[in-house]
Order: sequence, then structure tokens, then C-alpha cells
Amino acid sequence: MYRLLMTGLTVCLVLSSQSLLAIDINHGKQLQQQNCMSCHDDGMYTRENPRVTTHDALRQQVQRCETTLDLKWFPEDVDAVTEYLNQTFYKF
Ligand code: HEC
Repeated sequence: MYRLLMTGLTVCLVLSSQSLLAIDINHGKQLQQQNCMSCHDDGMYTRENPRVTTHDALRQQVQRCETTLDLKWFPEDVDAVTEYLNQTFYKF
């Protein structure tokens, strides 16, 4: 039983670390360019006194704009766009 538990735990850990590595920045860039330019361009992410000041807040803001638009993205899509914006503009 213990061995089974440990094996299960190991599998979970391996899977979750893989999904972290699998964040696809180019996918995020594409999604952002296709869906997010109608109200604001990239200038929104580099404006003075940005609303977003932490990585968590950035993900929440991406999620908020995504929900407003009713895009029905997967969490991976939100992560990809968050990472794209972070590495390109915010650099948290
Ligand atoms: C319906 C119009 C609209 C669309 C489309 C839109 N946004 Fe926004 N977004 C806004 C507005 C308005 C703000 C400014 C909110 C504020 O200042 O309180 C904003 C702000 C942001 C910010 C924070 C900027 C800062 O100050 O740091 C991010 C990040 C962002 N949007 C990401 C996205 C992403 C990603 C998408 C595509 C899923 C998107 N937005 C699509 C309206 C939109």
C-alpha cells in the first residue's frame, strides 16, 4: 500500500513538473495577438504605473480579460499568455 502511494505521488510530481515546463510562450504570443489587441495594444503592458505589479496579479488580469471576452481558454492558455507577457514586458 505504501509503495503504491509513493509511486502515485511520484507520478503526480513528475506530471506536474512537466506541465510547468510545457508552458508554450509562442502559443501565448499567438493567442494574445489574435484576441487581445482590440481594446489595448502592447502599450498597455508598458504603461506608467501599471495596474499589475506581481506575477500572480498578472495571471489574474489575463484571466479577467479572458473571462470578459468569453474566450473559453484552458488554464494552459492563460498560463502561456501570462508567461509571454511576463517574459516580454513585465519581467517579474
Ligand atoms: C474588452 C476590452 C479588452 C480586451 C479585448 C482585453 N483587455 Fe486587457 N484590459 C482592458 C482594460 C480596460 C484594461 C485596464 C484596466 C484598468 O486599468 O483597470 C486592461 C488591462 C490589461 C492588463 C493590465 C495592464 C497593466 O496595467 O499592467 C493586462 C495584463 C491585460 N489587460 C491583458 C489582456 C489580455 C491577455 C487580453 C486577451 C485575453 C486582454 N487584456 C484583452 C480591456 C481589455
